[in-house]
Amino acid sequence: MKMNTFYIHTMGCQMNEYDSDFLAQALVRMGYAPTRDPNEASVILINTCMVRAKAEQKAMSALGRYSRIKKRRPHIVLGVVGCLAQKKGHLLLDRFPQVDMVLGPRETGRIAEAVSAVMKNRERTLAISLETLPPAPSFTTDYFKGRVTGCISIMQGCNNFCAYCIVPYVRGREVSRPPGDILAEAGRLVSQGVREITLLGQNVNSYRWKGEGGVKDFTGLLEEMDRLDGLLRLRFTTSHPKDLSDRLIECFGRLKILCPHIHLPFQAGSDRILAAMKRDYTRDQYMRLVEKLRRVRPDVAVTSDVMVGFPGETREDFLLTLDLMERVQFDSLFSFKYSDRSGTLAEKLEGKVDESEKDRRLRRLQELQRSITLKKNEALKDRVTEVLVEGFSKKGGQLSGRTGTNKIVNFDGPPEWIGRVVNVRITAAFVNSLRGVASCEQAA
Ligand code: SAH
Ligand code: SF4
Ligand code: F3S
Repeated sequence: MKMNTFYIHTMGCQMNEYDSDFLAQALVRMGYAPTRDPNEASVILINTCMVRAKAEQKAMSALGRYSRIKKRRPHIVLGVVGCLAQKKGHLLLDRFPQVDMVLGPRETGRIAEAVSAVMKNRERTLAISLETLPPAPSFTTDYFKGRVTGCISIMQGCNNFCAYCIVPYVRGREVSRPPGDILAEAGRLVSQGVREITLLGQNVNSYRWKGEGGVKDFTGLLEEMDRLDGLLRLRFTTSHPKDLSDRLIECFGRLKILCPHIHLPFQAGSDRILAAMKRDYTRDQYMRLVEKLRRVRPDVAVTSDVMVGFPGETREDFLLTLDLMERVQFDSLFSFKYSDRSGTLAEKLEGKVDESEKDRRLRRLQELQRSITLKKNEALKDRVTEVLVEGFSKKGGQLSGRTGTNKIVNFDGPPEWIGRVVNVRITAAFVNSLRGVASCEQAA
C-alpha cells in the first residue's frame, strides 16, 4: 500500500526551521512519512516568513505553486503556517480556496487536529491566537538521527518593537519555556546523536523563568546546558546589544562548551538612525560590547545584521555604518535593504530612501564586508583548528564542518568522522568557506 506522505517548505529564520521539525514530528506520529516531492505528498505545509517584502512575495508565490498542485489533486491537505499565516489569517482562506488550514507560529500544537478535520470532513481550520503556546515536542525516536547540529527554541515572541520590525506582531509577546523542558529536549537530541545545540529566541538575553526552583536567567540556563553529558558545542542566537550583560559576556570565558561566536545585530552605525529604529543603544556602546567580548575571549567571532536605507538615512548616516564595520571588523554580516512592513512604526516615517539608492548602498556595504571577511579568513591559513564534522561538502566528495567560530571548513576524510571533532590545518581561504587538511594529531 502506498504510504501517506508530507512535504514541508520552510522559509525564513531558524525559528521556522525549529517549528517545521515540530510539525514534521507530529505528522510522523500520525503515520505520515516525509517525501522530497511535493507532487506526490498527501499533506503540503508552507512555513512562511514576512520579515521583508521579498520574503512575503516568496511565500505568496510558493502558495500559488502549491495551490496549483492542490487543484490537480483536490484530496490532499494544503496548509499555510508561520508568520505570514499569522498576519494574513482569514484573508488567505478567503483568497485561496485550496488552502485547508492557516496556523500561526504559536498554534503549531493544533496540527494533528487540523489535518484530521480536513481528512474527515474537509473542514478548514484558522488558528492564529497569540495567547497560546506550542506544547513541548513529543519526540519520535529517530527523527534527529544523522543530524550533528540541532536547535531548541527557548522562548517565544519579542517585546522590543524595533521600529522596522514585524516580528513582535506575528510572534507575540515574550514567553520563556521552563528550563526543565529545554534540558530534557537537549538530552533527547544528544541521545539521537546531536553534538551541537543552538538555543533560539528573538532576544535570548531576556530569557527569564520563574518557577519552583527560583528564578533562572539566560546565563543560568547556559550553565546548566554546559553540564549536559555528550554535548560538545553550545551556541545561541539572537542577542540584543541592549541586554547583553557582563555576566553573559563572562560566560564566553568560563563555559567549556560555549562556542567562541556571537551574532550581535547592530543594524546601523549612526546614533540618529539607531534612535529612530528604537534600538536603545549607541554606536559607542555597541563597540564597547565587542571590545569586552574580545577581552574575555580573544578568538571570539562576531557576526551581525545591518540594514541600509532606513527612512531618513542620509549619506552621512550610511558612512557611519561603513565606519563602524571598519572599526569592528565583523567575521561576517547579513545585510538587508530596509523594507516597509505594514503596521510598524517605520512604515509611517517620512524620508523614505529610493530603491536605487538602497541598492547602491547595499552593494558598497557588501563589497567592504567581503574584503573584511576574506582578510579574516586568510589570517587562519596554516593554523590548526577544531572542526565539528557535520556531513559532506556541498560539491560532494569532501567532509564539511564548522569551526567554533562558525566558519565552514571542507577537507578530505572518512565518513566515520561525521559527528566528531577533528583537528584541521587550514590551507585555503574564501569568502564563504575554508579548505583544509586533517592534521595528524587528532582531538578525542
Ligand atoms: N530578533 C533578531 C532579528 C530578527 S529579524 C534581532 O533582534 O536581532 C532578522 C533581521 O532582519 C534583523 O536583524 C534585521 O536586520 C532584518 N530586518 C528586520 N525587519 C526588517 C525590515 N523591515 N527591512 C529590512 N530588514 C529587516
Ligand atoms: Fe525584531 Fe527588534 Fe524583536 Fe529583533 S529585537 S525581533 S529586530 S523587534
Ligand atoms: Fe521571518 Fe517570522 Fe523568522 S517573519 S525571520 S520567519 S520570526
